Amino acid sequence: MPQPAAPTPRALPRASVLDTLRVAGTVAVPLLARGLIVRRPGAVRLAEAVDGDRRGVRLFQRLRRTYGGGPLRLRVPGRRIVVLLAPEHVHRVLAQSPEPFSPATKEKRSALGHFQPHGVLISTGADRADRRRFNEDVLDSGHAVHRTADAMVGEIRREVAELVDVAARDGVLDWDAYARTWWRMVRQLVLGASARDDEALTEDLHVLRATANWAFLHPRRRARRARFLDGVRRQIARAEPGSLAASMPFAHVSDRTDPEQQVPQWLFAFDAAAWASYRALALLASHPDALSRAREEIAGRDLSVPKDLPFLRAVVLESLRLWPTTPALLRETTAPTRWEGGRVPEDTLVLTYAPFFHRDDENLPEADRFAPELWTGPRTEADWPLVPFSAGPAECAGRNLVLHVTSTVLALLVDASGEDGPRLVGRHPLDPDAALPGTLDPFSLRFALGPARG
Ligand code: HEM
Repeated sequence: MPQPAAPTPRALPRASVLDTLRVAGTVAVPLLARGLIVRRPGAVRLAEAVDGDRRGVRLFQRLRRTYGGGPLRLRVPGRRIVVLLAPEHVHRVLAQSPEPFSPATKEKRSALGHFQPHGVLISTGADRADRRRFNEDVLDSGHAVHRTADAMVGEIRREVAELVDVAARDGVLDWDAYARTWWRMVRQLVLGASARDDEALTEDLHVLRATANWAFLHPRRRARRARFLDGVRRQIARAEPGSLAASMPFAHVSDRTDPEQQVPQWLFAFDAAAWASYRALALLASHPDALSRAREEIAGRDLSVPKDLPFLRAVVLESLRLWPTTPALLRETTAPTRWEGGRVPEDTLVLTYAPFFHRDDENLPEADRFAPELWTGPRTEADWPLVPFSAGPAECAGRNLVLHVTSTVLALLVDASGEDGPRLVGRHPLDPDAALPGTLDPFSLRFALGPARG
């Protein structure tokens, strides 16, 4: 009996050349200009001035109207690229990572290969599984409060107290002071107390990340990388209490793991947490109801005792929904996949543009306002995709840790600000009665802590 011929797979909808150029000009080029691995403040300022991310959202809404739910193939010479336009497709791709949707795309391998070629994010197969397990062990991924949070909170409190003194002396809290404190704190949390003032180490990482922004266009800085990794290795050997290094001896390790190569990701990912928490402070400062709820959450609490702070966590998550620090979630197909719209071949880059889903005012009523209630209940695959930490098996392994650290910092700043603060001074970009801006430059925000004068 002759077999019926298999149905010819349909081709995916293809964007016109003009629409492909629009995606490049409105989304891809501005993201590259802002810097994927380390941000360039001038480009961030410019993006806010032109409300860059809102333009991206509008463009993607138009693509959905024109081409339907996608995935939509772009016409890019030399690389197969599809963009996701439907919520169920985002859930599918993230749930089915790392196979057949691998986080280790060529683009990420070429950028992160500059300083962490064995990092979990760009590892595959058995290496990925092994390194993921190590990361989850050290970062205590499954727990809202890290197992060594007692010591960590001690370090956080000392640094925030010093920052509050600096703000009192200068009359203002600005980004430079915040970032300086942040990195002192992060070096201690990741590497140990003796790394607190080792600015050279984070400067080395900064240079390596700046090189990584240029991916394959920049030669490797081998000497710098060797010096940086030497410093990391020394700190790991010390395993000082209150640091992630101290959790390493208890983690699963094999000859595939390469523990020191997992550390750069922890350090550099804390950068995003600085922007997110600083923007979250601006949300609190401009939304009196939320500030009252934050005060209620910490009222009567001994802040030296680590605690989950669900409302302040939700505030940080909102900061990340409104202004995602990883706007482009990239995956690469490791096998052909089938969709209602057609077939996606192997070796295709799949782009989830997070701002489109987070700020899609045609589907999400809360799109452009501050809505911490979006995060106070459990989220499921049936929900609209809000994915600042990605989702599924390759979700950010540091999600719980970073939410605990950032919510603790916010709690301490709110507590130190008393009845009147924190308040935004100078620039007031966040009006609770108007749509929040699509892009928010954190570097120029300034705050007053403590009692209002006069
Ligand atoms: C606000 C801060 C942070 C945000 C928004 C964030 C977000 C993300 C996102 C979106 C990914 C997936 C990236 C991709 O698929 O290309 C990721 C991966 C990861 N993050 Fe974070 N991250 C943050 C902070 C941290 C911190 C502080 C750590 C560690 C201390 C960390 C550890 C990791 C690791 C190990 C991965 C790789 C997971 C894997 O590939 O299996 N992150 N993060």
